[in-house]
Formats: sequence, C-alpha cells, structure tokens
Amino acid sequence: MNSQKEIVVSGIRSTGYLHLGNYFGAIRNYVKMQADYDCYFFVADYHSLTTHPKPEDLKKNVFRVLAENIASGLNPEQAVFYAQSDIPEIPELYLMLNMLAYKGELEKVPTFKDKVRQQPDNVNAGLLTYPVLMAADILIHRAVKVPVGKDQEQHLEMARNFAQRYNNRYGELFPEPQAFNFGSQLSKVMSLDGSGSKMSKSENENATIYLADSDEAIRKKIMKAKTDSGPTENNSEKPAYIQSLFDLMALISPPETLNSYDTAFNACTIRYGDMKKQMAEDMVAFVAPIREWARQLQEDEESLRTILRRGAERARESASRTISLARKGIGIQYYS
Ligand code: TYM
Repeated sequence: MNSQKEIVVSGIRSTGYLHLGNYFGAIRNYVKMQADYDCYFFVADYHSLTTHPKPEDLKKNVFRVLAENIASGLNPEQAVFYAQSDIPEIPELYLMLNMLAYKGELEKVPTFKDKVRQQPDNVNAGLLTYPVLMAADILIHRAVKVPVGKDQEQHLEMARNFAQRYNNRYGELFPEPQAFNFGSQLSKVMSLDGSGSKMSKSENENATIYLADSDEAIRKKIMKAKTDSGPTENNSEKPAYIQSLFDLMALISPPETLNSYDTAFNACTIRYGDMKKQMAEDMVAFVAPIREWARQLQEDEESLRTILRRGAERARESASRTISLARKGIGIQYYS
C-alpha cells in the first residue's frame, strides 16, 4: 500500500442488521475515503461475542455486514476489508494494552454503564475491556483517522490515552487516532419514535430503518414517526422529534424538497402526513437498491469468502509490522 497516504481504520460489530445510523455515521465515509487514504475496514466479530451469539448465526452476520458494506459502495479492491478474528495480532496487542488500562477508568465508560443496566446478568470482562480491544483494532495499523458516529467518541479518547501510555513507557510507536467525519461534527442519526434515542441494531427496531427493510416496512415505520398538529406561530423552533425528521430528510431527499417543507413549517402550513409520504418514497428509493444488491451478494458466498481471505492477508501484513515493533518496545525479544 502507498505509505504516503494517511491510515484509516474502522469497524462494525456483527450483531444485527445494519441501519441508517451505521450508513450515515460510518459507511458513507468509508466509501468517500477509500480512494484517498490507506483504509482498513473490518467486521468486529470478536466484539460481538460479548452478547454470546449462536455459533450458527455468527457467519451469517459477518457475511451480511460485508455484503451490506459492498452494496453501499465499499470497494474491497481499494479498501482492505477483513474479519477482526482473522488477525491474531489484534488480540495480542489487546493483551499488551490491557496492562496499561485501569479498572476504574473502564468502569466509568458510559457504554459500559449502559450495558450493566441493560444486561445485569451478563457483565463479562469482555464488556469491561471493550474499549481496549477497540484501541487494539485501531492501533494495530497505526491509524490516524477513524470514521465513526458520535457514540464512539469516548472510545476514541480512550484509544488515544492507551496509545500515549504505551509511547510514554516504551517509546514512540502509535500516532493518536482521531474520530473523523468530513469537515463536520460526528453524526448521530435519531430514531423515528421521538424518544430522543438513536437508531440502533438491537433496540427500538420499529423506529430504526434497516438497509434490509422491505419497501413496505420502510413506509410503515416512517408513517408512524412521531409528529404533532403543527406549529401555531411563524418561525417557531422545531421540537426535537420534528427536527430529527428534518435531519433525516436532509440525508436522503433533494435539498429543494427539504426547503419546501422547511418553508411550510415556518409559515405554519406544513402537513406532516405529506412530508412523511414524501420521505417514505425518498427512503425507499435510497434503501431498495442497497437491499437488493446486498441480497444478491449474500447468495454468492464464494466471492465473499475470497474478499475476506484476501483482506485478512493484506491486513496481517500491516498488523505484523506493528506487533513486532510493539513487542520490541516492551522488550519481548529474547533471541533473533
Ligand atoms: P457499531 O457496530 O455499533 O456501529 C458501527 C458504526 O456505526 C455508527 N453508528 C451510528 N452513527 C450515527 N448514528 C447512529 N444512530 C449510529 N449507530 C451506529 C457507529 O458510531 C460506528 O461508527 N465499537 C464499534 C465497532 C468497533 C470499531 C472499532 C469502530 C470495534 N472496533 C475500531 C471503529 C474502530 C461499534 O460497536 O460500532
């Protein structure tokens, strides 16, 4: 790979169907970055083990994440695309970084605290050290940019801390990786139910649009999105659940469409039923081609296997270089 280019890493957990949040928070940027950066994108299958998926589901989930990425425009000839579990150097670096990560700081991570609340019977050590594995994913390629959504911001801060700690103790090896979204804030695609939560693979499924949703499911979910009887004063502020509908429309509809509803809102003439109908049609036009292509790709397992195999070879070249340096830094070099 061309070493002049900046190195980019990002991953997606194989825990369910990909949705608009994954697309706009992550995959869209993968596609925009793949030609100009040295990109390493992967399916975080080890990370998904915290929820103990059935062995027979794991492969299907991994292949679906790969297919949905390609159907969204990812080119595995350009970007390196692999399964995390194919790179043994990642768990090796994870082990090293675990010695530099402290229980107290890991317990304070908001995503860990959420999991403790959601699944009190399964607070395993993998959940606690989740940010350490994530740091290993990133640092193994010595990445500088990490395209992710807003929910991963804190994890990136921890990755920077672990990188710094290694560098301070053992000598400069890792650059400090930054969360990345082209020229703007990290994205957070909200759910349709007005609850103030984000779209998610495993929660509020009826308020999340998945890349595999049928046209009918998309229409139904959008028509059910929370609205009200409309503003009563010109140019009033939009309530949060209305704002998030506009935000979603901005992602998938042409600017003129968005402007016309914005003007109608400001003039108190907006009809949310019409707006949602328009949005549903634009959403169907956006999702259907991705869904259909992803479906076809999943029928050709041999091609997906080849992509993963080739991706693993390319990722290991980079990972093995880093791990030898990391071992050497620590002093693990007993003979040559
Ligand atoms: P995951 O699998 O939950 O999500 C994959 C990507 O999608 C983004 N995302 C969103 N962006 C905007 N709005 C939303 N509603 C939304 N929901 C999800 C996430 O921010 C993410 O970029 N821990 C990671 C996976 C991971 C990783 C890594 C990422 C493992 N190792 C190394 C980057 C670098 C996760 O669970 O993402």
